[in-house]
Amino acid sequence: MGLKEDLIKLKEEAKKLIGSVKDKKSLDEIRVKYLGKKGEIKKVLKSLSKLSPDERREIGKIANDIKDEIEKLLKDKLAILKEKELEEELKKSKVDIHLPADWVELGHQHILTKTLQEIVDIFIAMGFSVEEGPEVEREEYNFDMLNIPKDHPARDMQDTFFINKEGYVLRTHTSPVQIRTMLKNKPPVAIVAPGRVYRKDMDPTHTPMFHQIEGLLVDENITYRDLKGTLQKFLQEVFGKNIKIRLRPSYFPFTEPSFEVDISCTICSGLGCRVCKGTGWLEVLGSGMVDPNVFEAVGIDPEKYTGFAFGLGIERIAMLKYRVPDIRLFYYGDLRFIKQF
Ligand code: PHE
Repeated sequence: MGLKEDLIKLKEEAKKLIGSVKDKKSLDEIRVKYLGKKGEIKKVLKSLSKLSPDERREIGKIANDIKDEIEKLLKDKLAILKEKELEEELKKSKVDIHLPADWVELGHQHILTKTLQEIVDIFIAMGFSVEEGPEVEREEYNFDMLNIPKDHPARDMQDTFFINKEGYVLRTHTSPVQIRTMLKNKPPVAIVAPGRVYRKDMDPTHTPMFHQIEGLLVDENITYRDLKGTLQKFLQEVFGKNIKIRLRPSYFPFTEPSFEVDISCTICSGLGCRVCKGTGWLEVLGSGMVDPNVFEAVGIDPEKYTGFAFGLGIERIAMLKYRVPDIRLFYYGDLRFIKQF
């Protein structure tokens, strides 16, 4: 038999072996046997020296082709074995990929965020847009331009946090956003401004940081009726169609006249109970017609324009709506509280 036939026989042999092999180790042994340094192919190549140059070229080429073919067979088989191995591994493993995944509990919005969002949405539906202002605010905007001059007793109405930057305070209310808005935009203006405010206060109904929403509407011919209608609509959206509202004369330096707005008690429907302290009414917000002095401070003609403003505490609204007895519960982060909403 010639070398050529030997080579073809080697190839058939290798092909059969590779076909029947069941693991990577045996496959590697086949590689060494045929393609190794002392392997079958090498042996054939060594004996080439005995041949004539023509024969050497012919057989050499066949040997190389066969080497390539065996290499390819080995490579394909290795891939198949690896695949099988992985399957076995998965079968053995304790993970059952058919079982439903572990339950991951999703959180939800904090009740204050939800309340704030609801209130903002009601005003957006009425055509108001949303403004924001900084929490570190110029004293001028927080007080002076809102008609609260220095040394005026009204400054004591709100226990201010001062910071060690001259002329700035932590805003005590969202009313400075009224000033910022009117400096920027000329009427008509219809905005709400939600945000954090700060006062030196701490008891079951006060925390040093709390949230307010300011409202401001300025245009020609805006009257008290617009104020009352807007707030009535808003409060009925929040507390239900059946509540009544009442405006009581009050005092704020930046509105004239000023009103506290009450709703009929949500617990006793106005009969008088512990929550409303027997009055049948709950105070929910402060409001009034924009004081002409405020218009002058921002360069709006008080002869041409009128407007109303209001400010309400989000915590207070949420406490009344959800009957939360202590404002501090909003901030303790106790899941037993948070999960109720
Ligand atoms: N800024 C007032 C407060 O914090 C509320 C208010 C806003 C009253 C706008 C009238 C008009 O108490």
